[in-house]
Amino acid sequence: MTSGPLVIAVDGPAAAGKGTLSRRLADRLGLAYLDTGLLYRAVGRRVLTAGGDPSDAAAATAAAAAIGVADLDHPDLRDERVTDAASKVAAVPEVRAALLAFQRSFAAAPPPGAAGVVMDGRDIGTVVCPDAGVKIFVTASPEERAQRRHKELLGRGTASIYARVLADVIARDQRDSEREAAPLKRAADAFVLDTTALDADEALAAALRHIEAVTGGDPCR
Ligand code: DC
Repeated sequence: MTSGPLVIAVDGPAAAGKGTLSRRLADRLGLAYLDTGLLYRAVGRRVLTAGGDPSDAAAATAAAAAIGVADLDHPDLRDERVTDAASKVAAVPEVRAALLAFQRSFAAAPPPGAAGVVMDGRDIGTVVCPDAGVKIFVTASPEERAQRRHKELLGRGTASIYARVLADVIARDQRDSEREAAPLKRAADAFVLDTTALDADEALAAALRHIEAVTGGDPCR
C-alpha cells in the first residue's frame, strides 16, 4: 500500500449497492465520501439544461469544463433523463479527462478531519486511483439490480415498470462496459463483493472484513 491518505475505491455497475455501502463505510471509518457518478450526472444535466445533445462530444466537453460545486446539489440529478445523459457524456474521453483532476485531488487531499476517502464510481480502482489501498468491486445480478431500482422509484412515487427498468439496467451496463474510455471493468486486484443475496448490513460487514484483512486492523489508525 502507498503512503498518504487511505483511499477506498468502490466500483461496479449501476444499482449494485455501491452508494449505500460507500456512505456507510465512510461513516464507520471517519472518511470523506465522493460519489463520482454525481459529477457525470451534473455534466449530463448541464448539457440538457442548455438544450444540447449529451452524445455531442463538444457540448459535453464544454459542460464538463463549466461545472462547479453548485451543480452537484440539484434534486433532479437522479431523474431518468439525467441518468441517461450521464451515461452518454461519460463515454466522451474529454469529459473524463476534465473530471479526472478533480477526483484525484479529492483523493490526495481529503477535507479536514477525514483520514482518507471512499470514492465510488466505475473506474476509481482502474484509472482514477490505481494505487488505492483498498479496491472493492460491488456487483449483483441485473435482475436483482433492476428490482432494487424499481422499488426505489416506486418508493419515491415515480411510475415504474420492472421490465423497462431491467432493459435500462442492461443497456446502461453495456454502454458503461463497452465504451473505449475507461470502461467499467474490475481491477485485477479488487475484492469482488456480490450483493445479489446480501442486504446492506451483510454487504457492509463483508466489506469491513476485507478492509481489515488488507490494512491489518483499524485502517484509520
Ligand atoms: O453511479 P451513477 O449511476 O450515478 O453514474 C452515472 C453515470 O456516470 C453512469 O452511466 C456511469 C458514469 N460514471 C462513470 O463513467 N465513471 C464514474 N467514475 C462514475 C460514473
